[in-house]
Amino acid sequence: MGKIISVYRRGHFNAAHRLYVKGWDRQKNDRVFGLCNNPYYHGHNYELEVCLTGEIDAVTGMLVNLQELKKVIREEVEEYFDHKNLNEQVAEFKELNPTVENICIVAYERLRKKIDPKIDLRVRLYETPRNYAEYGPRK
Ligand code: NI
Repeated sequence: MGKIISVYRRGHFNAAHRLYVKGWDRQKNDRVFGLCNNPYYHGHNYELEVCLTGEIDAVTGMLVNLQELKKVIREEVEEYFDHKNLNEQVAEFKELNPTVENICIVAYERLRKKIDPKIDLRVRLYETPRNYAEYGPRK
């Protein structure tokens, strides 16, 4: 058994969204979502933190190749979300409210498909420096 370690890499994207429930009227959406229900949308500077946990490879001394991880994060999350209107331009949010929780889960699912199944993944997504969500199995 190799030693278990966690490796982190950060990513970043800017995107616009509107939080609302389609079946609710304006007053109810304003009451629940406040300024986030602005029908003209608003933006955030999202910061992503990707955490991989697993066994160090005895030959390379690495858990993952960080060059490859950088490319996967760029393609699956940064380029996919950056400078997009999440409600209008990202397929996953046609019917799903683009809250920090749901964006975090979509980012996780997109990354999960490209990362070795032997490696555990957790994704933390900051919508503001103070508001963030985290998703992934906890051992
Ligand atoms: Ni917002």
